[in-house]
Amino acid sequence: MSLSKGSQALLDMLSRLAGTTIAIRCFLTSFFARVFISHHAIVAILSSTASTTSADIPGRKARSQLQEEIEIAFETKLSDLLSLSAKMQDQFKTALQDSPHCMLPSYNYQLPSGHEHGKYLALDVGGSTFRVALVELQGTSARARIMSQRTYKINDHVKRLVGLEFFDWMASKIAESIEGVEQLKMGIAWSFPINQTSLRSGEIQGMGKGFCANHGLLGADLGNVIEEACQRKGLKISVSAIVNDSTATLLANAYTTSSTRFGLILGTGVNVAVQVPVSCLSSRKFGRRPSGWHEAATYVVVNTELSMFGGSSLPVTRWDKQLDRNHARPGFQPFEYRVSGRYLGEIARLILVEAVTDAGLFDGLLPESLMAQYSLETELLSKMQSAHSVSAAKELFEACNPTASVSVDDMTFVTTVARLITQRAAGLIAVSLHALWSLRAQASKTKEGRLTVGCNGSIIQLYPGFKESCQEHLDRLFEMSNSDHDTVTLEMAEESSLIGAAVAVVCA
Ligand code: GLC
Repeated sequence: MSLSKGSQALLDMLSRLAGTTIAIRCFLTSFFARVFISHHAIVAILSSTASTTSADIPGRKARSQLQEEIEIAFETKLSDLLSLSAKMQDQFKTALQDSPHCMLPSYNYQLPSGHEHGKYLALDVGGSTFRVALVELQGTSARARIMSQRTYKINDHVKRLVGLEFFDWMASKIAESIEGVEQLKMGIAWSFPINQTSLRSGEIQGMGKGFCANHGLLGADLGNVIEEACQRKGLKISVSAIVNDSTATLLANAYTTSSTRFGLILGTGVNVAVQVPVSCLSSRKFGRRPSGWHEAATYVVVNTELSMFGGSSLPVTRWDKQLDRNHARPGFQPFEYRVSGRYLGEIARLILVEAVTDAGLFDGLLPESLMAQYSLETELLSKMQSAHSVSAAKELFEACNPTASVSVDDMTFVTTVARLITQRAAGLIAVSLHALWSLRAQASKTKEGRLTVGCNGSIIQLYPGFKESCQEHLDRLFEMSNSDHDTVTLEMAEESSLIGAAVAVVCA
């Protein structure tokens, strides 16, 4: 990015000032990064003056060099993002033809009008909670509300329940929650892959997220397994619709915002659902469907299982390589390893471990609390970035890592690392949406106009500045790709799994 004369003069002046202390240097770097002046311009100017002071303090020089390396490694240049979008489009196209694991077509070909109404039972089987709710679609002014809900934690014990044991646990919670409303139609949001065989059924696939429920049940019909588990508890329940949580998010948002064509989940995991013309997929991908379905469907909502895309096209740092090497399934979900809540904290931790050894972070001593894999939670990074001052961030960090010796300088380093990692993640999410939008636009052959992405998940919802940064990347990508004034806007979809499960029933 080129700087205006005014910005250049300001930077010249600041660079003279910056020779004084490293703290000012760090402050300036993060301040300018926030107002979107290229990191490189600042780093180059400031580095040229910082070396005299940094040499005085052991580890400092190494630290500023390391920070510079991290800034370069995590930089998201728009031109690189645009070419990544082209590569991802190719990968998406291939998967739409052949992949048994990604680009899974749902049975939903119709988006809601917003006039649908009625009361429905909705189940949300998430990565850490199971929820049972009564949802009312109000029809008028496209409003939906959760009338009541029960939430059950899915702890490690529940995750380890094997096969039918897990579904019996689910059924016992359903029995507890739905007294008196059993006769209502039920929709399920399932935050795992599923190979849909009808609107109310699908073959159970690998589950990830530490669950063992699929053990011994791969390929079994999810709808039947749940209904039979309920019968064993004396409940007569029939499942009317099953959708992946990304599809639920698309449907829930489409109920209130008619321009919605994408559903994004970004929490512990990541996924996107997109509505595309049926012609984008090979006929093999639809399996055996009644001819009536094909006659009625022009478009179809597809669960991309985005987490598995990207492969060797994604930007890779030495810390990404380390994370992948240490992972139980190296290379399985490369996109997720770079963007989701499960991994952002771990990437940061790997950088901090290196900074302790090579750049004197925390006085060169790694606190025990940061020794184990995944011990630095993304939630802590998020809280630190919301803190109003470095000392407030330091207090939060020390509360979780009581034995760490943390200076203000250390804290600035830690929050800079967090910001760079999450900015890259925001850029990558924008790329995936841009790539899916391009693919849809090419296939639809009509002007797309202003489309909306319904969003849900702790990172996109709660991580400070994440959604804004993602939107900004998206806007720039659209500007650069001359998309003829088409836009894609991110919009939060509250309670999208439960509401989307209900909408899926009524759209049947
Ligand atoms: C994982 C699952 C996917 C789900 C996503 C968000 O990536 O494979 O099905 O939608 O997490 O919960």
